[in-house]
Parts: sequence; structure tokens; C-alpha cells
Amino acid sequence: MRRPLKHNNHDLFDYLSDDIVIFILTKFSSTAASPSQFFTIFLICKRLKRLGFHPMVLSKAGPKVFAIKPKNWSDRSHLFLRRCVTDGNVDACYTLGMIRFYCLQNRRSGLSLIAKAATKMHAPALYSLAVIQFNGSGGSKHDKDLRAGVALSARASLLGHLDALRELGHCLQDGYGVKQNISQGRKLLVHANLRELLLILRAVMLASPSPPSSSSTPLTLSGLNDLSVPLLSDYGYNVTVREIHPANWFLREWFESGPGMLNEGLRLCSHMGCGRVETRPHEFRRCSVCSKVNYCSRGCQSLDWKLRHKRECSTPNLWFDDNDGDIAL
Ligand SMILES: *[C@@H]1O[C@H](CO)[C@@H](O)[C@H](O)[C@H]1NC(C)=O
Ligand SMILES: *[C@@H]1O[C@H](CO)[C@@H](O)[C@H](O)[C@H]1NC(C)=O
Ligand SMILES: *[C@@H]1O[C@H](CO)[C@@H](O)[C@H](O)[C@H]1NC(C)=O
Ligand SMILES: *[C@@H]1O[C@H](CO)[C@@H](O)[C@H](O)[C@H]1NC(C)=O
Ligand SMILES: [Zn+2]
Ligand SMILES: [Zn+2]
Repeated sequence: MRRPLKHNNHDLFDYLSDDIVIFILTKFSSTAASPSQFFTIFLICKRLKRLGFHPMVLSKAGPKVFAIKPKNWSDRSHLFLRRCVTDGNVDACYTLGMIRFYCLQNRRSGLSLIAKAATKMHAPALYSLAVIQFNGSGGSKHDKDLRAGVALSARASLLGHLDALRELGHCLQDGYGVKQNISQGRKLLVHANLRELLLILRAVMLASPSPPSSSSTPLTLSGLNDLSVPLLSDYGYNVTVREIHPANWFLREWFESGPGMLNEGLRLCSHMGCGRVETRPHEFRRCSVCSKVNYCSRGCQSLDWKLRHKRECSTPNLWFDDNDGDIAL
């Protein structure tokens, strides 16, 4: 083929209409694997820089474009997220809301952004609102609204959010914010575990066409930016499948190694994939056995129990109930 990119001394690119370039950039922004990958297009030429900021492109940018590192947080990244929010990007709305609420401690505007994303049926936003309502985060103990928390969890779980489903199961089981219905709660917890198991199986199939042997080598799928999955840990499998939302990574890193400082007496949720912090002392629940770990929610507690804490807690076996690994309180 002859020099495919040049034609009469012009880049073929010059002949493409703006509409087509915007279409291509929109595809690119929705699938870009990282902020830096997305921002490389701005360095190529002025035209791409101009069209890269087109509302269509920004409105379709995927969550990974917003996976900014807390160390790299600046006024420019803040402005960029704001611009995406203005252009109607729901994921940017959620991400900026979480950052403002938890990291910048601008509770009002953070909450309103998360709520805005929630009205667009953004499942993580619905679930995050639920956690905020359950704990009265950002307000006092008296601002807790358990019923609202249950309703929001229910809505998020209908959209397929696993943590929300787990939370709802625990609420029904404990009669927390809703009329107690132990069997229904159990059912939801089993359902959540099954859904997780299906995700694992799918990942296992993709990774190894032949069935995994029962050898002692743990199977690890890496590169997914997630967590080891608890369900199979008992059988020597170490599989990662659950994608953690970039906003959760941001929160955790912000407080652990970024510019964030935890105020005296406030604690980070001990579940790795969460990143939420207390907004007032004693907001989170503690492990009732060892008191060494804190959780923003029942969902985080039960997941972290399976993932990690079960091996670290000074728990005599009779303390925890085998069916879903929750600690008997
Ligand atoms: C952080 O910024 C530096 C330089 O500005 C860049 O090279 C790096 O890729 C950024 N890291 C992430 C994770 O975005
Ligand atoms: C629990 O929920 C199930 C299904 O929604 C319902 O059929 C059952 O009557 C409920 N039990 C109680 C005690 O409310
Ligand atoms: C599971 O994988 C993680 C990360 O890949 C590793 O840190 C951990 O030690 C592994 N656990 C086991 C039991 O192999
Ligand atoms: C925060 O929410 C969890 C359940 O989701 C609850 O166990 C805990 O007590 C709440 N904290 C406060 C201060 O209400
Ligand atoms: Zn948590
Ligand atoms: Zn413990």
C-alpha cells in the first residue's frame, strides 16, 4: 500500500469532518484505560485538543478516564471533572461527588452530586447514598434515615449492585430499617454469593480453558485492578474478578498515601475496596470481637470478613455463623 496517511501533502485527517472525528473520539473516551491514555490525544494536535473537549466526547467518557491518582489531584483535574459533569457525564458526577463529600469535606455539594447521579440510576451512587443515610454521614447521629437507606439499597440492587444486595440482605435479616424477614434476607445473601460465584467461574473459564486442578497452587487472575474473591478462598483459589470503582481507590489512596489527612479520632473503613471515612467519631461499626477494624456498613464487614479478617480476628469459631460468615452480634 502506498503511504496511506498522506494525500497531496495533506493529512487525510484534514479531510475528515468534525462529526466523524468526534465520533471516533467518543468511542475512544468511553473505552480509554486510564486518564493518561485519554489525555495523550490532547497532545497530538490543536484540532484533537479542541474536539477532545467536545461535550459529546466528555459526556461519554468512561470511569477509567476519571481514575485520577490522588497524588496527581490538582485544580486542573477538578476542573476537568466539573466540565464532564456539566456535559452530563453521570460517572464524573458520582466520582466528583464522592471526592468532594469524603476527601474535600464539602458535604453539601458532594451529596448533591451523588444524589444527582443517583437520580440517573447510577448504581454505585444509589448505594453510596444508602451508606450515607444509614450512618447519617456528614450530619449527626440523629440524621440517620434507615428506611431511606434500605430503599436506596433496594433500588441499587435491582440495578445489579452486589454490595447493595448484600446490604439489603443483612438489613432484612437483622430487621434494620425494615421489618425483619430472616428467610428473605438469607435468600438475598445466597443470591449475592451466587452472583459472585458466577463472576468467578466466568473469570476462571476465560483464564484457563481446562478445568483448574485441585492442586495447592492458588489460581490468580491479575490485571483487573480488583480484589481476591472471598468465596473460593477456602478452597485454595485466589481469584480476582470484582472491579472496584475508581472513586473507591481514589478515596483510599487519598487518605492512606495522598494529600488527605484523617482528623483525630476518625477512621477509614477497613474493607480494602471501600475507602469511605468517618465524618464524625464513632460513626462506623467495629468488629465486636477484636475491636481492631471498622466498617462503614454491614456489607463491607461481611465481605472483609471473608476476604481477610476471618484469618486475623481473634474469633473463636462459635462466634461466627457459618452460613454467610457474618459475625453474630
Ligand atoms: C500522574 O502524573 C504524571 C505526570 O503528570 C503522569 O506521568 C502519570 O501517568 C500520572 N499518573 C496517573 C496514574 O495518572
Ligand atoms: C418474608 O418475605 C417473603 C417474600 O417476600 C414473604 O412471602 C413472607 O411472608 C415474609 N415473611 C414475613 C415474616 O414477613
Ligand atoms: C492472593 O493474591 C494476592 C494478590 O495477588 C496476594 O497478595 C495474596 O497473598 C494471595 N493470597 C494467597 C492465599 O495466595
Ligand atoms: C453505620 O451503618 C452501619 C450499617 O450499615 C451500622 O451498623 C452502624 O451502626 C452505623 N453507624 C451509626 C453511627 O449509626
Ligand atoms: Zn466500607
Ligand atoms: Zn475482628
